[in-house]
Amino acid sequence: MKRPPRSSPRSAKKAGRTVSIVSTGSYVPERVLTNADLSASVDTTDDWITIRTGIKTRRIAAKDEYTSDMAARAALAAMEQANIAAEDIELILLATASPDMIFPATACFVQQKIGARNAACLDVSAACAGFLFALEIAQQFIATNTYETVLVIGAEKLSSITNWTDRNTCVLFGDGAGAAILQHRSESTHGVISTHIGSDGQYADILWMPGGGCRQPITAENAHQHLQTIHMSGKDVYKQAVVSMLDASNKALDKAGLTIDDIACIIPHQANIRIIEAIADRMKIPIERFFVNLDRYGNTSAAAVAIALDEANRSGRLKPGDYILMVVFGGGLTWASSVIEW
Ligand code: ACO
Repeated sequence: MKRPPRSSPRSAKKAGRTVSIVSTGSYVPERVLTNADLSASVDTTDDWITIRTGIKTRRIAAKDEYTSDMAARAALAAMEQANIAAEDIELILLATASPDMIFPATACFVQQKIGARNAACLDVSAACAGFLFALEIAQQFIATNTYETVLVIGAEKLSSITNWTDRNTCVLFGDGAGAAILQHRSESTHGVISTHIGSDGQYADILWMPGGGCRQPITAENAHQHLQTIHMSGKDVYKQAVVSMLDASNKALDKAGLTIDDIACIIPHQANIRIIEAIADRMKIPIERFFVNLDRYGNTSAAAVAIALDEANRSGRLKPGDYILMVVFGGGLTWASSVIEW
């Protein structure tokens, strides 16, 4: 793998301390929902879903299994991997579009479930881009010496905000959680090199859940309208996804002083294989450079890149010293990217 010259802008760009991902964890629920299962309830086929999205199965949480439960399982796996005690966690950032409830923050429920009694807790709302937004916030707190140990989680129970009668959306989503623990390690130069986050509110209405907030509270009169489920203009989202993920990738690479040829593994948002193929094509790199698990889990929004990071880590796909690029997009619209030296 080509390495940047010693004088690369990497160190110059990094204000503050190095911030390393010291461990990762993930959790997906037991129940598997196949394309064949879906074709029994809506007018769709395994062929249509596979060709248009690449998704074969997704996981669905049990009725009494909440976003905070899945988040806690992922967090505990990450804590175990790096042998980090719950008391050492100073901040929990939980990215989600499907919180247990509007308040308190789902991160507070996770705090209680894992016993992280010394942590401050908040949720990050940036839809599918939320995990990398949270990663950037964590990095800022560590780089500026505010905290030593931050737990970042992406967790979703999208099955609870999916309109199961709408074939345009219900075939796409799944449930799960992924987590990472970030620390400054004085003995290590490895860590987050650059991050880029961005948003464009003019596209808010192409991917949103319009009901359930103060604008359109759910009432007896509108309960049948499915306002409290994901609404999406698929084609518009697709176009914006390709453009914004390419742009975000270039921005993080530029900041890091690297090119796409330096990147050993790209971990993209797991929404649709065709979006990933379009990006690979425009980057002129083989699809094999991308880590893909959407065939098994579908789109788990904020959890997607976090679960993929953990699977790439635990499967040995990421080697020490590798440069990896994570890149995501989501409702908002939002997008984010991060270059990491593993
Ligand atoms: N099964 C069979 N037919 C279907 C299905 C289905 N599940 N869904 C839609 N169709 C039909 C449509 O009704 C349409 O039929 P028509 O021509 O008779 O009207 C036809 O298939 C084509 O529909 P399109 O919407 O044009 O299909 P498209 O090729 O655009 O694929 C898709 C749809 C897969 C949703 C694609 O647009 C896409 O992937 N968009 C991006 C979605 C995405 O990434 N969302 C991320 C959400 S992230 C977050 O923040 C939650």
